[in-house]
Amino acid sequence: ESITDSSLFLVSSVGKFVSNVLFKQRTDNYICRPVYYLHAYCVTVRFFFYICIKSFLRIMKNPVAYLLVFYLFLSSCSGVEKEEPYVIAFSQCMMDDVWRQAMMLEMNIEASNYDNIRIVIADAKESNETQIKQIQQFIDQKVDVLIISPNQSDSITPIAVEAYRKGIPTIIVDRKIGSEEYTAYVGGDSYEIGRIAGEYASAFLPENATIAEVWGTKLSSPAQERHLGFINGLKKKNVNIKTVVGNWRREIAKKEVSQLEDFNDIDLVYAHNDVMALGAREAISERDSALVSKIIFLGVDAAFGKGAGLEAVANGLLNASFLYPTGGDQVIRVAMKILNKEQTDKKYILNTAVVEKNTARTLLLQSDQLINYQNRIEQQKRNIDMLFQKFSMLRHSLFLILSLLA
Ligand code: FRU
Repeated sequence: ESITDSSLFLVSSVGKFVSNVLFKQRTDNYICRPVYYLHAYCVTVRFFFYICIKSFLRIMKNPVAYLLVFYLFLSSCSGVEKEEPYVIAFSQCMMDDVWRQAMMLEMNIEASNYDNIRIVIADAKESNETQIKQIQQFIDQKVDVLIISPNQSDSITPIAVEAYRKGIPTIIVDRKIGSEEYTAYVGGDSYEIGRIAGEYASAFLPENATIAEVWGTKLSSPAQERHLGFINGLKKKNVNIKTVVGNWRREIAKKEVSQLEDFNDIDLVYAHNDVMALGAREAISERDSALVSKIIFLGVDAAFGKGAGLEAVANGLLNASFLYPTGGDQVIRVAMKILNKEQTDKKYILNTAVVEKNTARTLLLQSDQLINYQNRIEQQKRNIDMLFQKFSMLRHSLFLILSLLA
């Protein structure tokens, strides 16, 4: 207390000295108003300091007060730890098919390695207009990284380029845009996939064979490239190709194939993805169930998941599929590189492979394990979140108790 008193004395003595000396020397009845105010001010400051320090010393005699100070220290520490996460926005052309669900799973597994990112997804539901609006919103929000899987190349190109020109790092995934103005591209080589499929088909086809080619959306780059590659990969010259457009959808492919006049001459069905190959198979089998065993069915994707290509090949519904990796994990790694200001490549082209029955079975087992791991990771994350909530509840109750005790 003597230390406190002497510091109080020091604080106010200068002011007091000035006021007393000047006050007494110049006047006895406060004629010099500024000096009077200065005197009053010093006395007030002294009184204030005195009260503060006295009450502080009184509080600190209580051990609970130490806990309170410790609590405040803890709260301020935990406040510093939590930084705003980076926002990675993903404009998806569609979400409800098995290949894109596999893509999201792979993205989430990779994203769970980092705790400083938040992924925001917008589903354009196969509409160019919706996708353009959603990308515009992401531009306005100035997201940290923008990932785009375009619905149709030409329609989405201008808005993707606008995002890039406005300084938003832009990654194009799967389907392409008609410009080189983007930060990076991640995706499989659809031309190469088509070419390998064409070569593969040639090995089974007689001369003058008939092929039913089931197209994805005509204005999307993978459909165009899978077609061109296939034509170039075919070694047999005199093939007859029946074209059907399935827009990447099983149901549409089924409907379009069922409207073909005659199935009897079809030797092989080549669909730009597995679900359309399955739709075509269903249409043929509904009209003539014996016919499906005579026709070779080829698809693209070899995705895992219920009703997807791997399962279909493993069960013998499709003869083969050509792997088209989703790139979900790679795209997050590229986004992280960008956020960490590391150098990125312009193009990340993912490998393909022929997937027949045995390979499909092995890959299916592996993908089951992957899904298991992911489920466990998510469960552990939920546990940690719950623990964190309990911790903050405890912290608040502790604060309440301590304030009451103090
Ligand atoms: C899924 C999908 C895949 C295909 C890819 C092409 O939406 O149709 O089956 O490989 O998109 O962009």
